Amino acid sequence: MLYENGKPFHDYVDADKGLVDRVIFSDQAIYELELERIFARAWNFMCHESQIPKAGDFFLSFIGEESVIATRDKKGELQVLLNSCRHRGNAVCRAEEGNARSFLCTYHGWTYGLDGQLIGVPGYKDFYHEQLDKSQWGLVKAKVASYKGFVFATMDPEAVDLDEYLGPVGRMSIDLLAAQGPLKMVAGVQKNIIGCNWKLAVDNLFDYYHVGISHASAFMSNFRARDPEAPPAPPRFSFGKHRVWLGDYGHAIGGPRIPTDEMANIIAHDNPNLDETWRHRDDARAILGDQAIESVGHPNIFPNLWVTEANQISLRLPKGPTGCEIWWFTLVPEGLDEKQHEEAIRGANHQFGPSGFLEQDDGENWDQSTRQTMGVVARRYPLNFSMNLKHGEVITPADGGAPYVDTAINEHAQLWTYRAWADWMDAESWAALKASRTPVPSDRL
Ligand code: FES
Ligand SMILES: [Fe+2]
Repeated sequence: MLYENGKPFHDYVDADKGLVDRVIFSDQAIYELELERIFARAWNFMCHESQIPKAGDFFLSFIGEESVIATRDKKGELQVLLNSCRHRGNAVCRAEEGNARSFLCTYHGWTYGLDGQLIGVPGYKDFYHEQLDKSQWGLVKAKVASYKGFVFATMDPEAVDLDEYLGPVGRMSIDLLAAQGPLKMVAGVQKNIIGCNWKLAVDNLFDYYHVGISHASAFMSNFRARDPEAPPAPPRFSFGKHRVWLGDYGHAIGGPRIPTDEMANIIAHDNPNLDETWRHRDDARAILGDQAIESVGHPNIFPNLWVTEANQISLRLPKGPTGCEIWWFTLVPEGLDEKQHEEAIRGANHQFGPSGFLEQDDGENWDQSTRQTMGVVARRYPLNFSMNLKHGEVITPADGGAPYVDTAINEHAQLWTYRAWADWMDAESWAALKASRTPVPSDRL
């Protein structure tokens, strides 16, 4: 075993020098502890409420590696149920989504209501002599809550409530989408498996350093074009202007900012391949405030939900220390005509997902990065997260908004994610995590 039992996880992340030990990306024992201390404890994204609008609608999701059913019961309440029969453990739901009146286990026929209650047991009278207390043998239930239609669940009864968990940075992450207007989820989720550690996929979502190199060919092909006749959309980012928010429990938003006057120029050019007009609406500014309205960066809701600003959201689901299943959900504004709807989906498909230009490039790099954490020699050398470290001053807005840093391109959000990872891994309970987590920095990054 590579992981030395008892060694604090903070020893694997040197926040002062910006170094991260490669062992955390491929060690089986560390991975198993992540499932216990991070995924079984955190609020995990399940689905969007528009995917399960009616009673009986369900959507199969994951908490760590465990299958869970997100559903709406007869009263219309959201439920998240562990997809495992209490008799011999069989999965009670095999379809990825659909509508059901109840969940009948195909092994021996125990039947569960939409709220998880055990409602039917073959032979209840004759074989169990009516002595089986059905009220005690329902499906295991998660705590469920939603924020602006985004449904989350936790399996830890001690978890803080969702609002406290998300805090201003987690809420802002979702607001960056919600501020664009009412959205609905496109049917179907694109799923593919990459041979990488899930943390390297999360790390990359904040990474603008790689864009010009990894995605050079994608940009040459004008892959985002909805109207191929239109000139290429103007670049939306520079290396010089970045804004970063670090949030409690490991959430972060990192990436470029476009000052309001520069954004006005982009909008004035009216390029069909880059619609940013929503950023000039008063209601959007009221939701986001003066700082977030300028962000075109990427948020991660810890541990594994990437909310892109381009109407796609992604889960990085752990599948062993060296496997990650990537899920892509596409949201579209309500009220689009058929052509606009098609264009929005085509734009999303060209960007991320199995057929996306960008993730084809990225996946290859993450796979190789993961492989190179396994070598006995390579493992002696940490990875480097020192870009612009200690060159960012934290600004606390006078209006009470979340503290942020204006800086050039950097790796603050990545390093923060690993610091938070160590907090979660070192804590033996929610109470310990609350007491010992690293405070959001208020001076320098
Ligand atoms: S395993 Fe489900 S009824 Fe036996
Ligand atoms: Fe990328």
